[in-house]
Amino acid sequence: MSKSVEFFDQQFRHQSMDAALKLNPFEEQALPYLSGDVLDFGSGMGNLAFAAAKKGCKVTALDASSVAVNHIRSRAAAQGATVSATQADLRDYRIEGTYDCVVSIGLLMFFDCPTAFKVLAELQEHVRPGGYAIVNVLIEGTSYLDMFDSEAHCLFAPSEMLVRFSEWEIERSEFNDFEAPHQTMKRFSTVIARKPYARVEGGT
Ligand SMILES: C[S@@+](CC[C@H](N)C(=O)[O-])C[C@H]1O[C@@H](n2cnc3c(N)ncnc32)[C@H](O)[C@@H]1O
Repeated sequence: MSKSVEFFDQQFRHQSMDAALKLNPFEEQALPYLSGDVLDFGSGMGNLAFAAAKKGCKVTALDASSVAVNHIRSRAAAQGATVSATQADLRDYRIEGTYDCVVSIGLLMFFDCPTAFKVLAELQEHVRPGGYAIVNVLIEGTSYLDMFDSEAHCLFAPSEMLVRFSEWEIERSEFNDFEAPHQTMKRFSTVIARKPYARVEGGT
């Protein structure tokens, strides 16, 4: 298990139920864009997945944390929610099928950069035309590094996400800074982008 997954397993185990159910600000931003079939890639405890299911989405949640995945499964069974959860290492995961929305909040920075970019391309590939990708990562300037494997993490360049979504319609692109322990900081980039429909050759 990687250091980051151990870190989150511990955190999820000790999280109070109130904190566990609350959407974080990036999940709040994502929720209005979610409809239809949703893939939550790096779902954590599934707060966004359950909020999306409540508004009618069918959600596939993936995460490496057994604590998170077990929590999602029992909550889905208890509530009869349309959320399925699978435990998987997402560094090398082949997504099956396509989705109306693919969300990945706070995951890709836990991979080395070539892996993060490869996985981002895989996420983009599996969004249906007209559907949304919602991606949030830590960027350069972040000084809180406790949760990272020292040799395997990626702080994106500030322009990286927009470069990688250059062919997409950008609905939102934001940078957010948060204070972190020991006078460090976390600096995030969030992009909400709509996949274009394929151009027809010779079309007007
Ligand atoms: C910052 S949390 C974000 C969770 C959720 N998306 C949210 O916004 O609250 C990062 C998540 O990535 C997961 N994670 C880290 N490395 C992973 C890996 N290699 N494969 C799958 N999940 C991983 C952790 O278990 C954790 O749930």
